[in-house]
Amino acid sequence: MNIPKWFVKPLNHGLVRHASSRSGSSSKYLSRQRHDQFVRDRKADGTGYVSRSAYKLVQLSTKYPFFQPGRVVVDLGAAPGGWSQAVLQQCPKARVYALDLLPLQTSLPNLTFMRGDFRDTQVRTSLSSLIGQDVDVVLSDMMANTSGNSIRDTQASLDLCMAAFVSVATIR
Ligand SMILES: C[S@@+](CC[C@H](N)C(=O)[O-])C[C@H]1O[C@@H](n2cnc3c(N)ncnc32)[C@H](O)[C@@H]1O
Repeated sequence: MNIPKWFVKPLNHGLVRHASSRSGSSSKYLSRQRHDQFVRDRKADGTGYVSRSAYKLVQLSTKYPFFQPGRVVVDLGAAPGGWSQAVLQQCPKARVYALDLLPLQTSLPNLTFMRGDFRDTQVRTSLSSLIGQDVDVVLSDMMANTSGNSIRDTQASLDLCMAAFVSVATIR
């Protein structure tokens, strides 16, 4: 019998996966991370961004200057906090209201965080009360946990995108 490299045979039982071996997808992920320009920048440039996606937002905001001093910005799906960091680094006088299911890994002046599920009407109402003023920019990087089923995952992310789009008017 041909046993794949990533299996080991325990004493008397069937086959179990060796803890130290890596699946093809995790090796691919690690290799992509090693060569990824954004990941390398994050380590080297001292910005302290907690996510690589912060650089994408910086690139976008260079092309479309939507961050201006005094602007009220809502950051949906904000954790770990890279986009909020990028907004406030570009524009320290903006006010950012961040929302996520998970906690942020950063805290900054002018950054207010609320934990919750944006699909929940009560959470949206509480967010709106917390903000208490007109909003200038709504960002959303909300992404559902991936299940491995690409059709289901894509649909879940599109649903979140649509929820953000439809609810912008109700945030404030
Ligand atoms: C790609 S990450 C966001 C990264 C973030 N923009 C940054 O730069 O650090 C997607 C986030 O969406 C959040 N999320 C997914 N569904 C959500 C929901 N229904 N309500 C609030 N946040 C949600 C996840 O918890 C996750 O932290």
